[in-house]
Amino acid sequence: MKKLMAANWKMHKTATEAEETAREVVRLLDGKLAGDRSVLIFPPFTAIQAVAAVLSGRPGYYWGGQNFHPKDEGAFTGEVSPEMLLDLGCSYALAGHSERRWVFGESDELVGEKVAFGLQKGLRMVLCIGEKLEERKADKVEEVISRQLEAGLAGVNEDVAPESLAVAYEPVWAIGTGEVAGPEEISEAHTQTRVKLRELLGNTADQIPILYGGSVKPANAEQIMELDNVDGVLVGGASLAADSFSGIVPA
Ligand code: PGA
Repeated sequence: MKKLMAANWKMHKTATEAEETAREVVRLLDGKLAGDRSVLIFPPFTAIQAVAAVLSGRPGYYWGGQNFHPKDEGAFTGEVSPEMLLDLGCSYALAGHSERRWVFGESDELVGEKVAFGLQKGLRMVLCIGEKLEERKADKVEEVISRQLEAGLAGVNEDVAPESLAVAYEPVWAIGTGEVAGPEEISEAHTQTRVKLRELLGNTADQIPILYGGSVKPANAEQIMELDNVDGVLVGGASLAADSFSGIVPA
């Protein structure tokens, strides 16, 4: 299975800034990108085209949308459709990022609708899951992982092409806080995720990458990548600067 080294730029960078960063990432990684790793960048919508212009035609480089609305078109002010992302050459989209869930109130069910609709339209989907601090303190990590996977994958079955799906485990308390989950916490959650994926998707589950996200940086990325059932990373803050992201990507 290919490892996915993903950058989530959130609401950062104008098109010009995004193009510069993408160009610099490609330059710094020239000849260093391991054959079993892919780079995936999620720019804000307004910078997708600029990033696409830099990455297109480069093997191992992909880009995607941070969000979409699960409808073909219509009166949905402020939203974009999967078709619009595909039109900009996006291969991937995120669904269920904790900021979508907790800042914008997206339900487990809506996240599941997005995953199913995106796949149906031809996007590869990265489903984000993860518990809040109070849920970890109340010993509910496995319960949250199970619930979010069940709802997030409600419209997906074991016939799904494994390369079109990835799961990102991102404990909410570790996102943007500098507080990275410890190796045991990551291993345990990723194993629980794999077990639940097997329950939901049978043997296909073993070919689906499980990414870790939450304060990943160059200093901790390789240790995290070595853990069982960690098949990539989803990086926010440390992906904004090309030198730091390119320090995370290579093996
Ligand atoms: P962070 O964000 O690396 O800044 O913690 C990760 C994410 O939100 O995907």
